[in-house]
Parts: sequence; structure tokens; C-alpha cells
Amino acid sequence: MLPDGTTHIDGEDDIVYVRKQVRDLASGIGFNLTDVTRIITAASELARNIYRYAGKGRMKYAVLHQRGAVGIELEFQDEGPGIADIPQAMEPGYTTSRGLGLGLPGSKRMMDEFHVWSEVGKGTIVTIRKWKRNN
Ligand SMILES: Nc1ncnc2c1ncn2[C@@H]1O[C@H](COP(=O)(O)OP(=O)(O)O)[C@@H](O)[C@H]1O
Ligand SMILES: [Mg+2]
Repeated sequence: MLPDGTTHIDGEDDIVYVRKQVRDLASGIGFNLTDVTRIITAASELARNIYRYAGKGRMKYAVLHQRGAVGIELEFQDEGPGIADIPQAMEPGYTTSRGLGLGLPGSKRMMDEFHVWSEVGKGTIVTIRKWKRNN
């Protein structure tokens, strides 16, 4: 299994690499195929947001062990323009780039935990977690 670490996001190729790395990590932990796909979809959207809105940033990944439960944590960090109104950005369909406006709300729906920190002029950090089901 991969150790905890960091992947830089700086271009289209890095988004492809993020997808592969998240697939290896999530299937290595033992998530079922449906959950692996959900985690890859969420990670892909958040990596794309970094590339599109901030130009560059990084994904930090970690395997979580908490009271017998195993999970995955992915943190998407950038030092881009930030998000002025987070609740608005979380609304399905809201976009500043003629996108679908489903990246943030869709990622939230795919995961068990979802948190956004952002400050205008400083950057954005989106943290997502998913726990493995015992079945
Ligand atoms: N990392 C980020 N930095 C700055 N703004 C962001 C970032 N991620 C998302 N946003 C803002 O939130 C909006 C909604 O994002 P999202 O739900 O992924 O939809 P879309 O990317 O299709 O516009 C974006 O249009 C953008 O204004
Ligand atoms: Mg998006």
C-alpha cells in the first residue's frame, strides 16, 4: 500500500496521475469498486478545480485508522484566488467558468466527509474522507 504523501497538480497529465494514484490507494485499502469509482470521481473534480481556478496546487493523501475503522483522506490545497462565498459555490449549477457547477456538490455527495476552507487571496483547501464499510 502507498504511504501517505503528496502529488503535485500542475497540468492535465497530473489530473490523470491523480486518478491513477487514488485508484491504487483506494483499491489497496480494499474499497469496493463502486466506492473506488466514487472516490476517483470526487478527486478528479477537485484536482480539475485546482488546475482550472488556481493553476496549480497539490493533493495530500493519507490512510486513516480510527477505532478499528479504515478510511481514506484526500486534501486538495492551492494558493489561488480563493472562494468568496462557499455556500454559493456548493450550490449545484453554480459556476464562474461555464462549467456544470457540479464538481463541489458532486464530490460532497460521493464522500462521507467533505470540508472546504477558503480565503480570498490566500487559497483553498478541500478535505474529503471516506470510510470503508464492513460488508
Ligand atoms: N480551488 C478553487 N479555487 C477557486 N475557486 C474555486 C475552486 N474550486 C471551485 N471554485 C469555484 O467554485 C465554483 C464551483 O465549482 P464546481 O462545483 O467544481 O463547478 P465548476 O468547476 O463546473 O464551475 C467554480 O466555478 C469556482 O468559481
Ligand atoms: Mg469544477
